[in-house]
Amino acid sequence: MSNFKCTLWPSGEILDINGEETLLAQLKKAGKNIKSSCGGCATCSDCTIVVKSGEMNLSPQTFEELRLLGNVFHITKERLSCQTKVSGDVTLDITAHDKKAADKSAKPSVSKSTGVKLKKREDLERVAMESKEKIQEKPSDTWYRHWEKEDEDSNKPKRLGGNKRVKPFNFNDPE
Ligand code: FES
Repeated sequence: MSNFKCTLWPSGEILDINGEETLLAQLKKAGKNIKSSCGGCATCSDCTIVVKSGEMNLSPQTFEELRLLGNVFHITKERLSCQTKVSGDVTLDITAHDKKAADKSAKPSVSKSTGVKLKKREDLERVAMESKEKIQEKPSDTWYRHWEKEDEDSNKPKRLGGNKRVKPFNFNDPE
């Protein structure tokens, strides 16, 4: 079994990998977090890794991989780690998988049955308190419910318009 060097970018960590197993299996064995939903069947594209160097040492793209990612490796430099084996030294970027894990932990939990995002009770109470304070703080010199306010200059209640209506035509008037 011939061993090759897999350098992780940008940390520079070096892993020993072989040419028999897929990159996904070997990276997982090395304790790296690589997302995969389909279990290596080339249907989810979650296990995508970016090749920084040594692309000539990778196995050719399979039909399943091309179907999923398209023929754009020369632009994106992305490969499915579950479909890729190596035959030499490579440098890989798997930072996207760390980011995904961080995003997942930051996201609010979602109800499994309804798919509705669940918020924490403290968050809900805080939002309710804030909106309550906002309502109480409403300054009196705004347009908020201005029709209920009295006109400041006169004692008459505020007019709401209607005094500029078109007069009906009077047929009996000679003018
Ligand atoms: S694990 Fe799903 S495509 Fe690789």
